[in-house]
Amino acid sequence: MIEVPFGDLAAQYAAIKDEIDAAIARVIADCAFIQGPHVESFERAFAARIGAAHCVGCSSGTSALVLALEALGVRPGDEVITVAQTFFATAEGILKLGAVPVFVDIDPATHTMDAAAAERAVTPRTRAIVPVHIYGGSCDMDGIGAVARRHGLKVVEDAAQAHLAGYRGRTVGTLGDAACFSFYPGKNLGAYGDAGAVVTADATVAARMRSMRDHGRSGKYEHDAIGDNHRMDGLQGAILEAKLGHLDDWTALRRRAAGWYGARLAKLGVTSVKAVDGGEPVFHLYVVELPAGADRDAVQAAMKARGVSTGVHYPIPCHLQPALADGTVSLPVTERLAGRILSLPIFPEITEAQVAAACDALGAALA
Ligand SMILES: Cc1ncc(COP(=O)(O)O)c(C=O)c1O
Repeated sequence: MIEVPFGDLAAQYAAIKDEIDAAIARVIADCAFIQGPHVESFERAFAARIGAAHCVGCSSGTSALVLALEALGVRPGDEVITVAQTFFATAEGILKLGAVPVFVDIDPATHTMDAAAAERAVTPRTRAIVPVHIYGGSCDMDGIGAVARRHGLKVVEDAAQAHLAGYRGRTVGTLGDAACFSFYPGKNLGAYGDAGAVVTADATVAARMRSMRDHGRSGKYEHDAIGDNHRMDGLQGAILEAKLGHLDDWTALRRRAAGWYGARLAKLGVTSVKAVDGGEPVFHLYVVELPAGADRDAVQAAMKARGVSTGVHYPIPCHLQPALADGTVSLPVTERLAGRILSLPIFPEITEAQVAAACDALGAALA
């Protein structure tokens, strides 16, 4: 039996151990533990690779969302349009500012924000839109950008899962007013702990975020604003910069694996998530929609019995989470898909034999 884990960070570390160990040693030798030169160096490298003017490193993708929304002027009581088919942090970032997430439905083929639904949700209190490039696939950014322009709204891309994803020849992260990345260890670009970043073209927004991530500091013990501690560790900056040098290769390997899946799943009659027109996904996750009536728990258990690990991203949409559910929001596509989605193993080191084993296991479980 071929074991197919959901990810393999140990294999990744083994391949780049010398670089990572040297990066860690440099930070320790420099005693540059919080922000400092290693974080600044990573910020410059990441901004350059994304094609953004500014990158502000921070402590997590959640912090990135709070920093970006605050710097773009979202205030208590403002409405922010987003989707419920995302990790809970997308909503949390909005709620942390005292703003109100307004959830809209997603496109059934791409699982990303339906731009027409976003436009219908605009009210005089709407301040911003947070589209989520879920699973590593871009949203319909032309459609969403047009809605934002018509109504004078800010766009904050949640690119936590979409490092280096493309859209009509541009890189995700350059398509709105700011974009938020997570470097949670399992992400396509993952730290060895929590870390995140915001990229933006706007120098004023970047300066505000630099202040707010570090206690609103203007001098060592002088504070212009009530900020917070959202700082990035030096170790994470150095590790991320070392890993960034491999991200293009890893992304190509993920895309190759997605190609293997696509061909095999089509033969099985299983529906994979589609890219939007002009989208170039990076396959943080490889998600399929199980046929109506399939028992997902049983499918997962049967696949596990054959050595194949799977996941569900995510079983409970944000508007139905116990912390938020008030029974007022109905999102038929999001709710239907939440019960049918299944994430198959995908990571740069996965082999064609492992993809074949995963597909065989899925086929047998559905037979
Ligand atoms: C879509 C999305 N948004 C936001 C986040 C939050 O990132 P972090 O876990 O780094 O706070 C994540 C991470 O899991 C995510 O997947």
